Order: sequence, then C-alpha cells, then structure tokens
Amino acid sequence: MLDQLQPQPADALLALIKLYEADERPDTIDLGVGVYRTNTGETPVFAAIKAAEQRLVDTQVSKAYLGPEGDMGFVEALAPWIFGADSTMGGRLRGMQTPGGTGAVRLAAALAARSGATRVHMGTPSWPNHQQIFADLGLESALFAHATDTGKADVEAILGAIGQAGASEAVLLHACCHNPTGIDYTPEDWARIAEALAASPALPIIDLAYHGLGHGMEEDAAGMRAVLAAVPQALIAYSCDKNFGLYRDRVGALYFMAGEPGLLDTIASNANALARASWSMPPDHGAAAVRLVLADKELTDRWQEELSAMRARMRRVRDRLAAADSAAPGLNLAAIGRGNGLFAMLPLVKPQIEELRREHGIYMAGSGRINIAGLTEDNTPKFVAALAEVAGARG
Ligand code: LMR
Repeated sequence: MLDQLQPQPADALLALIKLYEADERPDTIDLGVGVYRTNTGETPVFAAIKAAEQRLVDTQVSKAYLGPEGDMGFVEALAPWIFGADSTMGGRLRGMQTPGGTGAVRLAAALAARSGATRVHMGTPSWPNHQQIFADLGLESALFAHATDTGKADVEAILGAIGQAGASEAVLLHACCHNPTGIDYTPEDWARIAEALAASPALPIIDLAYHGLGHGMEEDAAGMRAVLAAVPQALIAYSCDKNFGLYRDRVGALYFMAGEPGLLDTIASNANALARASWSMPPDHGAAAVRLVLADKELTDRWQEELSAMRARMRRVRDRLAAADSAAPGLNLAAIGRGNGLFAMLPLVKPQIEELRREHGIYMAGSGRINIAGLTEDNTPKFVAALAEVAGARG
C-alpha cells in the first residue's frame, strides 16, 4: 500500500535551516526561517522563561495527563493580553491550548471545515503553511493581493473578498506583523474591515503569531479587537513561539468567540474531539512556563522588557535598511522602514535569490522574504552591497 505514495519536496522554508547550517563560509547571513536574533546573531532563551522553567522544575509534582484542552491556567492568563480587560468578551469567548500557532491554525481550519466551510479567502502572499493546511483539510483557498505596489496593505482587495464571501466561507486575517510582507492594515483599514465582516456571513479566522513584535501588546491587538467587537463569531489562532521565544516547545492557543454559552460548549467539545484525534493533548512544558511568567509581576515585567528590546532592535534594523535605500536602487528598501515584525519582502527573482546564496552566502526564502532579525550592525553593509550587486546585474 505504501508504494502508492509520491515523493514530496521538503518544506522550502525549513529546508533553508539545514542548507544554511551546511554552509561553512565564515560570513554567511541567515535571513530564512522566522526566529528572532540579537545583534550578535543569537536566539537566546528569554531570561523570564529561564526563571519560570527553573521554578517549574523545582515545584512541579506531576506530569500526569491534563486533557485535550491542555493547561487552561495558561489559556486564561494569556487572554487579557490578547483581548483586553474583559478577557472573555462578556462570556462570549473561550480557548484551549494547542501545539504552537500551527496547531491553532490547523484546529481553527478543522473546526471551520466541520462546520461546513468550503473556502477560505486569504491575502497573498501569506505564510505558505496557511494554504497547505487548508488544502489538507479539503478547504479551497480564494486568493487576493495583500499589498499594493506602493507597499501599503490593499484594503480594497480584502473588502472585495469579504463582500463576495458566502455563508460557507471563512476569511483569514493576520492580526499584526504580516508574514511575509511586514505590511499591516492601518487602524482606519481595520475599522472598514470590521464593518464589512459585520455585514458578511463569512467566519473570520484571525492568526496572531507575532503579538508584541510590531508596536506593543495593546497596539498589535487593536485591529483584531475592532473586528471581534463587530462580528458574532470568530476563531483566533495564537502563537507564543516568537513573543516568548519558545519556538521548538510549541506553545499556542485557539480561542473561539460565539454568541451564546451553549454554542461555546458545543464548539469546545468539537475542538476537544479534533485535538484528541490529532495530537491528543498539547505539550505542557512551554505553556506551563508562560503561565508562571504571567502569574508573577516581576517575571511579567522582565518578559515585557525583553520583548520591548526585541521590538526596538527590529526597528533599528528597519531604519538602517531604509537609510540604505539609495545604495540598492529599485529594491525600495525605504518601504521596509514602515513595516512591522520579523519580515519584509524584496522584489527579487529566483536567479537573484540563488546568486545571493551561492556567491554571497546570504540565505532567504525563495519568495524574496527576509527575516530582518538576521541582520546585524556588522553584516548589514555586506547585505546591502550584495543586494546592489545582484539587483544591478538584473538591470
Ligand atoms: C516562519 O514563517 O518562518 C515561521 O512562522 C516558522 C514556520 O513555522 O514557518
């Protein structure tokens, strides 16, 4: 039976990790997968998480099973940061832990499919795994352009998609720090999107994977909250991979918002059944560490300081690239200065991306996406010079 399987290509983004590691040149630059790096190129464990992990080791008395919903203390402690002071939205919201943000997106899509969804409207480019997850669950993707040529989010395109979306359809939204473009909707755009969704029968699925990496915890959630205030139902997929630096520990949550408590019970029972059939229950360790951070003011403050430092560094990298705009004509580095979060897109074609890898040891996704946190004060001049060279070669 297994002979029937066809070989599949390795995930292009994850394959970059291995390609980069195999390159022994001394001055390689990794702008591939989305992990934060310091100005000296490290991805350290947050000090707040280290302290919480130590407490966990010292105080945890059992590792017995919890259940498909995971650590509900974690889910509830996180909610006010995401949804604000009224963290159950007047009793209309509930959540559960998932294995990372990917698990949350997967569960959201599976819930939508179980509810009869057939299509998801999504801006493109998007995180490649979005479409892959939807396709795996038999959901069609209806694509529209996320951004305009001038480097702004194309709000008319999403309003058009929402206007067309029917009752068995969902609309995917990136809450902040759009992956891969770094181009987010403005508060005015969000108000219009919320209004359009309020008048639409489509279900919003909101992916919040970079909370706090844009402008701040409140600012980054504001657009999503405007949508939630306007619509009757929504699914919110959350990731702690980046904002707590827990990548490989796989810490995420899915929240569901719906009108009545009875319906919330039904949604939760379906989400639990889907989780049980997929991963049974999520890994505990990272979520327990987040719960301990959020339960302790000193650790919470330390976490927020660490997150602010990341945010400030990413702004500096963006400013540095924008300032180099004239050194690499035609690539619109200036626009990168206005983006948010870890990512930006460069208008490069495949041969240029390959040349950057081959000749300069610079690794980025095949789409032209760069992880700006891979750039440091030391390596930025080399990066800009290499860009100028390959872009010049094109001209
Ligand atoms: C990325 O887009 O680089 C990250 O979200 C990591 C991943 O799982 O793809």
